[in-house]
Amino acid sequence: MGRVAGKVVLVTGAGSGIGRATAKLLADEGATVIVTDINQPGGLETVQRIGGPQPGGGARFLPHDTAQEADWKRIIDDILAREGRLDGLVNNAGIAGPFPSTFESETVEQWQRVLSINVQGVFLGCKHGVPALRSSGGGSIVNLSSLAAFLGTPNLSAYGASKGAVRQFTKTVAIDCARKGYKVRCNSVHPGIIMTPMGEGILPNDQIKERVRGSIPIGDFGAPEDIAYGILYLISDESRFVTGSELVIDGGMNAI
Ligand SMILES: NC(=O)c1ccc[n+]([C@@H]2O[C@H](COP(=O)([O-])OP(=O)(O)OC[C@H]3O[C@@H](n4cnc5c(N)ncnc54)[C@H](O)[C@@H]3O)[C@@H](O)[C@H]2O)c1
Repeated sequence: MGRVAGKVVLVTGAGSGIGRATAKLLADEGATVIVTDINQPGGLETVQRIGGPQPGGGARFLPHDTAQEADWKRIIDDILAREGRLDGLVNNAGIAGPFPSTFESETVEQWQRVLSINVQGVFLGCKHGVPALRSSGGGSIVNLSSLAAFLGTPNLSAYGASKGAVRQFTKTVAIDCARKGYKVRCNSVHPGIIMTPMGEGILPNDQIKERVRGSIPIGDFGAPEDIAYGILYLISDESRFVTGSELVIDGGMNAI
């Protein structure tokens, strides 16, 4: 208990899956969590599960499209006005796009939509989040990349490209902030296949699901909480010497 006590942390895409589990774990460990999502009912449900704003912790919801710069300005201004500080930012919101989408079938519209959320959303989060973290005395950013940043993804061509970009951009932010003495750390997290609406969406039937499960060295899919624990570590001060790193949480898939 209390691993992030007193911290104010923004988690994007927290109305579902990994973002919801992360928001819940951070709140359980003492943070005040700003839950944002384009999915308002999902975001409100996350807040309800956490139990709403509480003295020294809890959560509240703000509607947020991470691809829109005006939304980022509004969200950060709101947090600085209400909570008075920002200590952590989890750039979690993301989409897979239609499945399957090979480089031959992908349309320019699909490609741009995936990159506008998965890459531009993370860029805007870092651009607008870093000044708020600095003005709070420093902080930590966690960007959700994927195992897809390391491997070819023939059926998710835009998605794989977007997560490769997040992996690289994270290091750029980390090094730029470190060299400038900003006291802002930035790391990427790389989930394998996690049982969320997105993860289930790339396993269209039971036969494929069991075949994929059998290819995971640890023998099973991950749960959203498996990723949330990694993010908790990176947001907490336990990771104060960690920046520009890649935390792979994938049941061993990237090691084969
Ligand atoms: N589930 C997996 O297997 C897996 C694997 C690797 C990486 N990831 C990454 O983890 C992150 C979370 O994925 P998940 O599995 O929890 O997915 P999910 O679909 O369960 O949740 C994603 C959330 O992001 C929100 N969102 C989508 N576009 C948004 C936007 N423009 N602005 C704000 N919110 C938006 C959705 O409404 C949803 O609530 C994503 O970045 C994803 O790419 C997931």
